[in-house]
Amino acid sequence: ITPILLTVAFAYVLGSLPFGYWVAKRKGVNILEVGSKNPGATNVKRVLGKGPGNVVFALDVCKGIFATITPLIVFPIVLGDSARSGTFLYDLGGVAGVVGAVLGHSFSCFLGFRGGKGVATAAGGLLMLMPLPCLVAAVAWVVTFFASRFVSLASIVAAAIIAITPWFLSFGMTLNVMATLLGLLVIVRHHANISRLMAGTEHRWDRK
Ligand code: G3P
Repeated sequence: ITPILLTVAFAYVLGSLPFGYWVAKRKGVNILEVGSKNPGATNVKRVLGKGPGNVVFALDVCKGIFATITPLIVFPIVLGDSARSGTFLYDLGGVAGVVGAVLGHSFSCFLGFRGGKGVATAAGGLLMLMPLPCLVAAVAWVVTFFASRFVSLASIVAAAIIAITPWFLSFGMTLNVMATLLGLLVIVRHHANISRLMAGTEHRWDRK
């Protein structure tokens, strides 16, 4: 249990790094008070433009990748055969990494337990654990976005795909349950967007 707790703690602190907040702050903007008030890449792009938005997206994806790949590399080295690829412990290490990072991003200890919606961070972590569902989710994200021009709707559709598709593939119970819970968490984190979508007041990205 100790390696799992250490992984969650490490991933949580890493995920808590509020890159969106910091990048905006450097430009003199408090991202928690403008646009959707979300410290994620989408809101940074909305308020400050493409460049800063892309930087935040890349950094948030990297948090997820790093938090997840670290236990996948360290567990077999430190714990030996019992945590080799394909074992329950190995899967649990990866799950602890991605879940810790998304919880950190969503409830950041550097932002008084506020945070983003976890889309980019979850994408980075899940890419390390289940690339095929990620690819399907990414394609669905792009199609939904270009059809609707709503980032939030695209993210919700992608999260639903992550919650469902692993059950049709052979990842095993640990990863499947994690993907479903993570997908649901991301959807729940979009509750304000869902209300705005239903009220017809959600921000739509214009065609350029
Ligand atoms: O990844 C977050 C996105 O789906 C919605 O962001 O700023 O429109 O609430 P925002």
